[in-house]
Amino acid sequence: ANERESMYLVSEFARNHFSEMLWDTELGKAIGLSYFKERGFTEDTIKKFGLGYCLDQWDGFTKAALDKGYQLKYLEKTGLTIVKQDVQNPNNDRTFDRFKGRVMFPIHSMSGRVLGFGGRILKNDKKAAKYLNSPESDIYHKSKVLYGIFFAKQAIAKEDNCYLVEGYTDVIQLYQRGIENVVSSSGTALTPEQIRLINRLTNNITVLFDGDAAGLRASVRGIDLILEQGMNVKVCTFPEGEDPDSFAKNNELEEVQQYLTENAKDFIRFKANVLANEAADDPIKRAETVRDIVHSIAKIPDAIKREIYIQECAQIMKVSEGVLFSTLAQISKKDQ
Ligand code: CTP
Ligand code: MN
Ligand code: MN
Ligand code: MN
Ligand code: MN
Repeated sequence: ANERESMYLVSEFARNHFSEMLWDTELGKAIGLSYFKERGFTEDTIKKFGLGYCLDQWDGFTKAALDKGYQLKYLEKTGLTIVKQDVQNPNNDRTFDRFKGRVMFPIHSMSGRVLGFGGRILKNDKKAAKYLNSPESDIYHKSKVLYGIFFAKQAIAKEDNCYLVEGYTDVIQLYQRGIENVVSSSGTALTPEQIRLINRLTNNITVLFDGDAAGLRASVRGIDLILEQGMNVKVCTFPEGEDPDSFAKNNELEEVQQYLTENAKDFIRFKANVLANEAADDPIKRAETVRDIVHSIAKIPDAIKREIYIQECAQIMKVSEGVLFSTLAQISKKDQ
């Protein structure tokens, strides 16, 4: 078999191993399984998403894989094992499990193959990163993957809409609640390749933001990329301190659906309102803001939609349609 196939196979083994540790060891049950249950995941959900646990040992996973005949080379290439040279003993490299002591979220391709993992620490008080992810490799390109796409693809096509959330647990909790058309870019900025994956299934995206202002500012940029592909974008925010995970955990399906219907706003309209509020009556800020929104409108391929948004934004930002149209013309010229 070729190299990539060997990497797929060792990733598959890892998924099975981590889930075995979760379900069939005392430590796994006491630490990992109870963690997932505390988060409100049912056993069916934990199995469906293939969640697991990597024991808190230096190289328990690596040893198990080598015992089964998987080659260190592929463990290292997939990032599951970290190999460190021993200066004292050059012929005896030391190996470490990358995901030691973490609960595991396998990341699947569109067709369901395991490409990589996200691993979460159990306590938030450590200095370590909350999530650790597989490194880029020949099988895992994080810019081309959406967490949850394998489970969501049919529902996305059927509902003709895709919910895009920030994290692993947002996907899982919404799915368990009954909203199955949901994927996540897992903390990385949205890329054109990720949007294309969704675009093959639907023209409609609803972006769900965590209820924290910091995340919102950064993420709004990436949304122009969605407009550029001619897709319709809505956005929805959650109350301060909530994210789709906590909201779906604490509310019934009907309440979640009602919240999404009532709070999902057209992206351009949303952005225009946010910017208009921020600029208030500061003339310089208002000028910047007008340019910013026209930049977003300029990304929309459909001329009719552009015209409608210009009319709408003129009202929100209290400027004439004329000045918006001439700004649009300038921007379009520059981009060519
Ligand atoms: N993320 C990451 N590394 C971090 C923090 C976050 O890769 N150190 C990614 C993860 O994919 C995470 C997503 O960014 O799911 C969103 O981050 P955040 O909102 O902080 O985490 P949650 O998904 O809400 O995770 P949890 O509820 O477990 O705290
Ligand atoms: Mn499409
Ligand atoms: Mn966040
Ligand atoms: Mn979050
Ligand atoms: Mn969360």
